[in-house]
Amino acid sequence: MKVSVFYYTQSGQSLEAVKRVCAPLEQRGDAVRYVPIEPLEPFPFPWGNASTFFQAFPESRLLLPAPIKPIDFSADADADLVMIAGQSWYLSPSQPIEAFLQNEGARAFLKGKKVVFVNACRNMWAMTFKEVRLQLKSMGADFVGHIVLQDRYPNLVSVVTIVRWLIYGRKAAEGLFPAAGVSDVEIQGASKFGEVIADVSANDDWDNLQPRLVAKGGSPYRSALVFMERTGHRIFGIWAPLIRKKGGPGSKEREGRLKAFEWYLYFVLFVASPFGLCVYYLTYIFRLWKIKKEKADLTNVKG
Ligand SMILES: Cc1cc2nc3c(=O)[nH]c(=O)nc-3n(C[C@H](O)[C@H](O)[C@H](O)COP(=O)(O)O)c2cc1C
Repeated sequence: MKVSVFYYTQSGQSLEAVKRVCAPLEQRGDAVRYVPIEPLEPFPFPWGNASTFFQAFPESRLLLPAPIKPIDFSADADADLVMIAGQSWYLSPSQPIEAFLQNEGARAFLKGKKVVFVNACRNMWAMTFKEVRLQLKSMGADFVGHIVLQDRYPNLVSVVTIVRWLIYGRKAAEGLFPAAGVSDVEIQGASKFGEVIADVSANDDWDNLQPRLVAKGGSPYRSALVFMERTGHRIFGIWAPLIRKKGGPGSKEREGRLKAFEWYLYFVLFVASPFGLCVYYLTYIFRLWKIKKEKADLTNVKG
């Protein structure tokens, strides 16, 4: 099989993850080609301070990504399988991944191709998945598999560790806090997904890829996290245009609103969401039907 992997990564985590997924394919002799998605203006890493980090919020949530460098697809025209590897930013595909999905050349290339999306994120991937699914469907691509690798520590612990890592570059465990990001064990274990892909392709049984990836833990659905993500996504959808009204990335006029959003986010994360979760669990029994439906939706690549 010929596999083309289009990826964006800042720390290297998403690339490492997709390389582990592809390892069993490479071992059996498949040709795997890795192609970077590169923003015209690179995003900083580490981000250095909270203001820079939050600058990326409105455009990420509004799916108005910064442009990427042109990609030459000629060497990938006959790929049997395409993988897109990246991450979520502000409950949306990261700007480079969204830019790729909106890119005219990429859309023409992906039309009719089998596509697997690999998302190495913190723990909130549901809205990203829906957007990727929507985009792939709209361009006529054949979305065959979704693989999520995520941080397994409790939500508030991973908020602290990821901020420390992404803004200040400190990934290692410190004091009571574990190392940030997807664990090495999880990344090493991602080859189990590649084994499924190898098997499915050998038997030309692509319709069964997604159910088999799900059975291996490829779409780690946790209803309480998705509840928080859906709520956050709605509220981000109010803040993002409000901030954007004051100007584009870097504009001085929007700094006040961005700061207000930052404080709002801390309040929601550390004060409001624990109460919200209590209410969620108290009403859990009434949500069972919706949870079942939601899980079916978030594991369904065909939408
Ligand atoms: C600006 C920004 C926003 C992020 N927002 C989310 C998010 O909404 N959900 C999530 O699970 N992870 C989020 N993350 C974490 C990323 O998905 C990813 O795990 C991390 O940036 C490392 O990826 P990379 O080094 O491969 O680029 C965010 C990261 C950045 C930089």
